[in-house]
Amino acid sequence: MTKKLTIALDGPAASGKSTTAKLLAKKLDYIYIDTGAMYRAVALVVLESGMDLTDSAQSVKIAEQSEITLKLIEGNQHTFLNGEDVSDKIRTPQIDVAVSQIASNAHIRKIMVKLQQAMASEGGVVMDGRDIGTVILPDADLKVFMQASIEARAKRRLKDQANHNLTLEEIRKDIERRDHADMSRKESPLKQAADALLLDNSNMTIDQQVEKIIGWTKQL
Ligand code: CDP
Ligand code: CDP
Repeated sequence: MTKKLTIALDGPAASGKSTTAKLLAKKLDYIYIDTGAMYRAVALVVLESGMDLTDSAQSVKIAEQSEITLKLIEGNQHTFLNGEDVSDKIRTPQIDVAVSQIASNAHIRKIMVKLQQAMASEGGVVMDGRDIGTVILPDADLKVFMQASIEARAKRRLKDQANHNLTLEEIRKDIERRDHADMSRKESPLKQAADALLLDNSNMTIDQQVEKIIGWTKQL
């Protein structure tokens, strides 16, 4: 039997990580773990509790008391928070803004690291996020750093958004703000791991980027 790999995908917002990770997991029959959804769920529970996001101690307390799980339902990954399916609620412009604050909290990251490492412990996983190759799975069999131009990423997100009616410029600004926060924070900043392979997909189709990574897994 071939070995079940661990695959780490990192990169900035809207670089195609989750689309690629989902397809890879399906092709390889692996589990897909969306770590961004977990940070989004923490942001949601803190916002819903009426707490001030900048109140670090309270945010940590709420995060500790919350149960966050990921489940595959009819081929789609769903995020559950204390038993409620919050998959739609975590993809709003409000959460896009709140999540950077949550993700820069060292204690919350500690809780997430433990959870995410446990989820990946059996292998056969594709995990995407910001610190997967650097912190969560430093020994991953394959690390990929996804990149795409800001123009391509903003246009793709504009196409994706359901009912939020943001303009291309607003989307672009939010992506730039979030990337800056992710790259400049003290705790586990977004950066390419030294042993990660760079995949710039600005001019690639989704199928091409998935095939490229499948090709890399075959060389392992
Ligand atoms: O889908 P998108 O790239 O817009 O974001 P996401 O992957 O859902 O992640 C949302 C936010 O969570 C990011 O902007 C990061 O601040 C944070 N995050 C993180 O800090 N570490 C991770 N492993 C995953 C996400
Ligand atoms: O997870 P992340 O935020 O990195 O990005 P995503 O949500 O997977 O991708 C953002 C959008 O770009 C999705 O609508 C993808 O279908 C699209 N896209 C892509 O991922 N790769 C391409 N080569 C072209 C479009």
